[in-house]
Amino acid sequence: MAAWVEGRVIERIEWTPTLFSLRVAADLAPYKAGQFTKLALQRGDQRVQRAYSFVNPPGTPYHEFYLVEIPDGELTPSLGALQPGDELLVYSQGTGFLTLDELPAGRDLWLLSTGTAIGPFLAMLADGEAFERFENLVLVHGVRKGEELSYQGLITSLVDQYGPRFHYVPFVSREEWPDAISGRIPAAISDGRLQARVGLEFAAEHSQVMICGNPAMVKETQQALLALGLAKNLRRTPGNVSAENYW
Ligand SMILES: Cc1cc2nc3c(=O)[nH]c(=O)nc-3n(C[C@H](O)[C@H](O)[C@H](O)COP(=O)(O)OP(=O)(O)OC[C@H]3O[C@@H](n4cnc5c(N)ncnc54)[C@H](O)[C@@H]3O)c2cc1C
Ligand SMILES: NC(=O)c1ccc[n+]([C@@H]2O[C@H](COP(=O)([O-])OP(=O)(O)OC[C@H]3O[C@@H](n4cnc5c(N)ncnc54)[C@H](OP(=O)(O)O)[C@@H]3O)[C@@H](O)[C@H]2O)c1
Repeated sequence: MAAWVEGRVIERIEWTPTLFSLRVAADLAPYKAGQFTKLALQRGDQRVQRAYSFVNPPGTPYHEFYLVEIPDGELTPSLGALQPGDELLVYSQGTGFLTLDELPAGRDLWLLSTGTAIGPFLAMLADGEAFERFENLVLVHGVRKGEELSYQGLITSLVDQYGPRFHYVPFVSREEWPDAISGRIPAAISDGRLQARVGLEFAAEHSQVMICGNPAMVKETQQALLALGLAKNLRRTPGNVSAENYW
C-alpha cells in the first residue's frame, strides 16, 4: 500500500550554489523512468511536500533527485541543507504519464527540457529503453547560465555509447556558451535553428516529442510544434507531443 516512508540521504552532488542532487535510500514501490514521487519534511505537525522526478532508471539501488533551490521557496531551502545521513520523507509510490509506454511508435524522439526538468529524460536515456524504441534520440536542455548544464558525465557516456543516434543540444539563454544555442527553445524551433543543428526535421509521420519544465516554455514549445503540423498526444487521440509542467 502506498505510504510515506523514511528516506536517508546517502550522497549529495553539488552542481552550482543553487543546483544539487540527492541520492536517497528508501524502500519504494517499483516505478518507471520519467515518473516522479513526493519528498517531504516534517515541520511540527505539518508535512511540507513537493513533487520530484526520479533521475535514476528503475532498478538503481538508490533514488536520485535533481533540484534547484528557490531562494524564497517553502521547501527547497530545507532540502538544500540536507547532508548525507539526514532523513526525509518519501512517498513510496511513483506516478506520472511522461513515460515511454504512453508514446505511439516513431522514428525520432525529441526530449525538450529546461532547468531541473532534464531529470526524467536522463532516467529514460540511462534506462536504454528509449534507444530500443527509437532510431534517433535528441536531448535538449535549456538553462540560464552554462554552469547549469549538469550531468555532463552521463551525457558524454551516452554520446560515447550511442554515437550518431544520440544528439545533445544545450541552450544557454543569459550568456554566450561554447557549443550551446543562444536563447530559448521555442524560438529556435520556429526559425529552424534546432532542426538545422541536429539534422532532423519535425514531422507528424515520424516525430515524438516530450516537453518538461517551465510551464511558459512548455506552452510556447507546444505552440511552435503544433504550427509545424504536429498534434498533441492524448490517450484518446494519439499524436506527437507529450508534456509535463513543473509548476
Ligand atoms: C510533476 C512534477 C515534478 C517535479 N520535479 C521536480 C524536480 O525533479 N526537481 C525540481 O527541482 N523541481 C521539481 N518540481 C517542482 C517542485 O515540486 C517544487 O515546486 C519546487 O522544488 C519548489 O518548491 P518550493 O517549496 O521550494 O517553492 P515554492 O514556495 O512552492 O515556489 C514555487 C515557485 O518556484 C519556482 N519553481 C518551482 N520549481 C522550479 C524548478 N524546478 N525550476 C525552476 N523554478 C521552479 C516557480 O516560480 C514556482 O512558482 C516538480 C514539479 C512537478 C509538478
Ligand atoms: N538559474 C539560476 O541561476 C538561479 C539561481 C538562483 C535561484 N534561481 C531560482 O530558480 C528559479 C529559476 O530557475 P531556473 O533558471 O532553473 O529555471 P527557469 O527560470 O525556468 O529558466 C530555465 C530556462 O528556461 C528558459 N525559459 C524561461 N521561460 C521560457 C519560455 N517562456 N520559453 C522558453 N524558455 C523559457 C529560461 O530562459 P530565460 O533566461 O530567457 O528566462 C532559461 O533558459 C527562480 O525562482 C530563480 O530565482 C535560479
